[in-house]
Amino acid sequence: MQEIKDIGLRGIPVADTKISAVDGEKGKLIYRGYDISDLARSSTFEETVYLLLYETLPTAKELEIFKETLAAERHLPAGIVRHLKKRNKAALPMDVLQSVIPMLADFDNEARSGTKGATLKTSVRLIAKMATVVAYWERIRRNLDIKKPDENLGHAANFLYMLKGNIPDEGTAKDFDTCLILHAEHSFNASTFTARVVASTRANMYASVGAALGALSGELHGGANTQVMKMLLEIGETKKVEEWVTEKLDAGERIMGMGHAVYKVIDPRARILYSISEKLAERTGNKKLFEISRKIEQVTREEFKKRKGRDIYPNVDFYSPSVYYTMGIEPDLFTSIFAVSRISGWCAHIMEEKFAEAQPKAVLYRPEAQYIGRYCGNEGCKYVPVGERD
Ligand SMILES: CC(C)(COP(=O)(O)OP(=O)(O)OC[C@H]1O[C@@H](n2cnc3c(N)ncnc32)[C@H](O)[C@@H]1OP(=O)(O)O)[C@@H](O)C(=O)NCCC(=O)NCCS
Repeated sequence: MQEIKDIGLRGIPVADTKISAVDGEKGKLIYRGYDISDLARSSTFEETVYLLLYETLPTAKELEIFKETLAAERHLPAGIVRHLKKRNKAALPMDVLQSVIPMLADFDNEARSGTKGATLKTSVRLIAKMATVVAYWERIRRNLDIKKPDENLGHAANFLYMLKGNIPDEGTAKDFDTCLILHAEHSFNASTFTARVVASTRANMYASVGAALGALSGELHGGANTQVMKMLLEIGETKKVEEWVTEKLDAGERIMGMGHAVYKVIDPRARILYSISEKLAERTGNKKLFEISRKIEQVTREEFKKRKGRDIYPNVDFYSPSVYYTMGIEPDLFTSIFAVSRISGWCAHIMEEKFAEAQPKAVLYRPEAQYIGRYCGNEGCKYVPVGERD
């Protein structure tokens, strides 16, 4: 029996990709060659999606057409809206997404076509409709009238409009748009890898995305942002942070939003979200959540260094909760907002899995496992019929 050093495939490259690169030592993230800080500062979500899907930044004309195509795909089939209205209002947004997104395949004639052109069209549909499903579910579960998508609004502003029922101010729409850019893509994380594994079986895109949504929902992945918000609300005041964090670490629990499987320095997305959270706190005068977050970061870093002799830093899920909450978004929606953005990265990866020339390419992912279960020699264990067992 050999010792498996790379449990969970940590540090093992499994395929080539041209979509994004994460440099964990330097704290850098690039999408198709462009630094995430530049995209967050100067791009828009739509332009970033175009970059991810089409491998290059669009011209002004290409961007205009892409925005129109995306906006035209936002509506949901009536059958899906009827289904949402019949669901148990207590259903969690991620559970709703994970079951409803694959249902959209019933309404997409091209879902099973398998050509690159059809897969691109389905990608655009999925990116447009993910936002609508999240917003519609939020309004339906609260017995509010649904707000049909407004084609004159950008993706971020339209999502907030469909969710809250009023058009957001420019600053809020811009901040939310930046959040979407930051969450769009992150190489072979758990949900993206899941999407690629399913795509490698030649399943349709909706099946891949449904599986990826399941992976994203867990609290060690996308579910962390909702847990961070619970922590902020539970702590409630800056002066309680030290005791709360120390107690959790003493009990061997994890502080959500802290630590990362790849980044050994601060996650570049967390740095940008920190400043969005800080500016939003100043703009709204609502500084408490930002201050509590900052204190948790400080105490966790100090305690972690004392206990483990190494550093820990906030990840993408640490400062986004204070931003979303200040925008008036319910905590249990945070992970589905992650999905509203990450769907673009998933689609780019599914396309790459199915059509890219990048080599080596897995035809079908199939890693090995080391069997450590019962073994009765070459003969195998003797099967005793159920009635004869003691
Ligand atoms: C993301 C995460 C799974 C990455 O983990 P990792 O760097 O591979 O680290 P491991 O899970 O192998 O843990 C390494 C050690 O650090 C500790 N650790 C890692 N993150 C921690 C956290 N947030 N709080 C407390 N301890 C933590 C682990 O308990 C472990 O301790 P041990 O060696 O004594 O067992 C981990 O940091 C985590 O659980 N973070 C909280 C959840 C989260 O924010 N997820 C979103 C990620 S974007």
